[in-house]
Amino acid sequence: MISVDDFIKNAARQAGQIQKETYHKVKSWRTKSGRGDIVTEVDLACEKLLIDRIKAQYPKDAILSEEAGAIGIQSDAPVWIIDPLDGTRNYMAGIPFFCVSIGLVRSGVAEVGAVYDAIHDELFFARRGAGAFLNDEPIKITDENVLDDILISIAWVKRKVSRQRFVKYIDRLGDQTSYFRRLGSAALVSCYVACGRINAYLQAGLNPWDMAAGTLIIEEAGGVVTDFDGKPIDLREPNIEIVTAGHDLHSMLMRDVVE
Ligand code: IPD
Ligand code: CA
Ligand code: CA
Repeated sequence: MISVDDFIKNAARQAGQIQKETYHKVKSWRTKSGRGDIVTEVDLACEKLLIDRIKAQYPKDAILSEEAGAIGIQSDAPVWIIDPLDGTRNYMAGIPFFCVSIGLVRSGVAEVGAVYDAIHDELFFARRGAGAFLNDEPIKITDENVLDDILISIAWVKRKVSRQRFVKYIDRLGDQTSYFRRLGSAALVSCYVACGRINAYLQAGLNPWDMAAGTLIIEEAGGVVTDFDGKPIDLREPNIEIVTAGHDLHSMLMRDVVE
């Protein structure tokens, strides 16, 4: 029998393969909550593949997936939280920054997670207590301890969050750095923080499927992930906000930037 770790890695790679093969070739899509919020035939094809595989392998487990919603959720059953294609807007625009994200979650906390960027063939993986990996090599968050010139991803979602808050954060950081990024895939940005490519990430208006794998991968890479009050993330919440960085930088962001 295949291990959970191999199952989640294989499933992520398989869905990623669909994304790679169909990149620049999407024919059908529709909008959801607004003009920029899109679901394509590829989101749905990846989702079907993942749900079918999970149901076949783990028929008693629950599933929460972006397009299909909740399937068989019970209070203490493990839940597979899926974002079949994170960064759909990038995918549609031809910007090669998107991924598939799968997390296995119990009581609001992820135990195993995988994020696959098929275009760059990068598979990020973590199991709680066993570390975080990029293509099977251990990864580590940066140990940055100054705000000066940090590379920071800041993002919010117009329909869910007051922009004034984030404009204030950018303003507070503006004397220290101008290396701001808004990359368009929350799961992949989280992995970039985990492997040290980006120093910190602030976002509000996220869904559990954006962050189920990403939070675990960051924590297992040695990072700190909290909400804007400094509390741990609960993946049962529908509207998630995160502040994440290495330990020292996270404390500085909480003290000097986020109130
Ligand atoms: C979105 C992306 C985006 C983030 C949004 C998400 P989607 O996911 O991760 O970066 O800002 O909050 O909804 O719609 O591409 O799966
Ligand atoms: Ca998403
Ligand atoms: Ca998605």
